[in-house]
Amino acid sequence: MALDNSLKEKMRRITSKAALAASKFKGLNDKIGADKAAVDIMRAELNDLNINGRVVIGEGELDKAPMLYIGEKLGTKDGAEIDIAVDPVEGTNFVAKNLPGGISVLAIAEKNNLFHAPETYMEKIAVGRNIEKGTVDLDFTLEKNLKNLADASNKKLSDLTVCLLSRERHSKIIDTLDNLKVNKKLITDGDVSGALYVTDSKFGVDMFIGIGGGPEGVLAASALDASNCFFQGRFIFKESGDIKRAKQMGIKDLDKKYELNEIISGDSIFSATGITDGDLVKGIEITGKEYFSETLVTHKNSNTFEVISKKEEII
Ligand code: FBP
Repeated sequence: MALDNSLKEKMRRITSKAALAASKFKGLNDKIGADKAAVDIMRAELNDLNINGRVVIGEGELDKAPMLYIGEKLGTKDGAEIDIAVDPVEGTNFVAKNLPGGISVLAIAEKNNLFHAPETYMEKIAVGRNIEKGTVDLDFTLEKNLKNLADASNKKLSDLTVCLLSRERHSKIIDTLDNLKVNKKLITDGDVSGALYVTDSKFGVDMFIGIGGGPEGVLAASALDASNCFFQGRFIFKESGDIKRAKQMGIKDLDKKYELNEIISGDSIFSATGITDGDLVKGIEITGKEYFSETLVTHKNSNTFEVISKKEEII
C-alpha cells in the first residue's frame, strides 16, 4: 500500500508552519522556546489530519525539551495507520544563535515501516546513489571505506570530502582523514543535513560518517531511501537506562548494524523546512502578512526529491 499523494503537501505545510513558529526565536538564545513553538504547531496540525498516526521517533527526551512523545497517538484516527518521526527543530543551537542550518523535520511511513528507536546515539555512514552497495560499510576500517570510495568514484583520496560532526569523539577519524589528505566538512550541529549532503554533488560531500543522534539518523535515512542513496546505522547503547529502554522496545541485539531498509521500508514521505538559511534549504523570511519558506520534500513511491519554495499568508 502507498501513502496518499496528498500527504506530501500536507507534510510540507506542517514543517513550514513549525519552521515559521521556531523562526520567531531566531537569535533569542532560547532553544526550549523555539522547540516548544515548533512542537505545539506540529502536534496541532498532525492532530487535524485524517490519519491514525503514532509517533515512533520523538525528540527532546535527553535534554528535557518539550517533545512529541514516542508512542503518542496523532490524527483524527479516521484514516491510514501511519508511523511518524519528528524533529521539530533540528539544530536548536543554530536557531538560538541565528546561525545557518536550523530546519524543521518530519517523516512518515506506513505502520511498522519506520524504525521505532529510543533516543540514543547512532554510528552512521552514508554515500551517494552512484556508489554500489558493498563499497563502504560500518564494519570496514575508515581507510578501507575511503579507498573503496575513491576507487568506485574514480577519484584520488585527496579529491574526496567527508562530512562529520566536529566532536571530540571523532578525533581519531579526523586524524586519519588529515593523514590521508582527505578533505573534511566539519559541521558544528545538524547531522540530518550533514547526511543529506551526499544526495547531490552540488554539496561537494562524498561521504558522511560519525556518531550523532539516533532519531536524526532515522530521519535522514528516510530521505536517503527516497533518493536511492546508501546508509547504515548502529545504535550505541551505553547508559543502563538506554539499555533497559532498548530491551523494553524489543531490541535484542544491541550491537546490530542496521541497513537502510531495516530502518525505513515501503512508502515514505520526508519534509524539512529551513528555519535559518542553510546549504540544503533557505530559512523563513517574513514580509508583512506573508512568509516565504523553502522545503525539501521526498516521496519514495513517486521518486520525488524536490525543494519547494512558497510564499504563504501567515494565519
Ligand atoms: P538538537 O537540534 O536536538 O540540538 O540536535 C543537534 C545535533 O547536532 C544533531 O544534529 C546531532 O545528531 C546531535 O545534535 C549530536 O549530538 P551531540 O551534540 O550530543 O554530539
